[in-house]
Amino acid sequence: MTKRVAILISGGGSNMVALAKSMTGDHPARPCVVVSNVPHVKGLERAEVLGIPAVCVDHRPFGADRAAFERALHETVEGYAPDIICLAGFMRILTGAFVGKWAGRMLNIHPSLLPNYKGLNTHARAIEAGDAEAGCTVHEVTPELDDGPILGQARVPIIPGDTPETLAARILPLEHQLYPEVLHRFASGDRTPMLLS
Ligand code: GAR
Repeated sequence: MTKRVAILISGGGSNMVALAKSMTGDHPARPCVVVSNVPHVKGLERAEVLGIPAVCVDHRPFGADRAAFERALHETVEGYAPDIICLAGFMRILTGAFVGKWAGRMLNIHPSLLPNYKGLNTHARAIEAGDAEAGCTVHEVTPELDDGPILGQARVPIIPGDTPETLAARILPLEHQLYPEVLHRFASGDRTPMLLS
């Protein structure tokens, strides 16, 4: 049976577009909704253009009440009956209360070679550390931030003169290849880690 995929974003949504566009033909999944926690972002417009329901659950009115925001987010997402949630540039930390409801069914893409550089400013930290390589990782989401079983990675060399911006610009197109490939496998029931080559 075709799997339904909810894609959660906070911004431009380029990974969302790559995922949505990949789910055609004999792909085992289809996008069912795009949800942003930030109003009026480009990604919501892009979802509408693609004909995918685009919804905002703004986190700001909830203030510090993370639990209430997550309940609202869960209710909205559940309304579209997804089998899989893909976090695609979703920049709110989700607590165990939300994550636990989607255990084994939620993926994230992170712009580093996990387990290195969880959190923010990943490219700057990789350059500052003098690393030879950087990249991106798709992993299952567990309550620990940017943790959880790794499902796929793509690597690039860090070259002399790289800035966080030049590195991000080289890695983002790989994210757009890696995430759809991992989702395709995951939706088919294959959780074997892959290295994009
Ligand atoms: C991507 O680089 C993604 O890996 C990163 O945000 C960007 C979103 O771009 N995600 C994180 O940093 C999550 N911690 P997009 O909105 O164009 O897909």
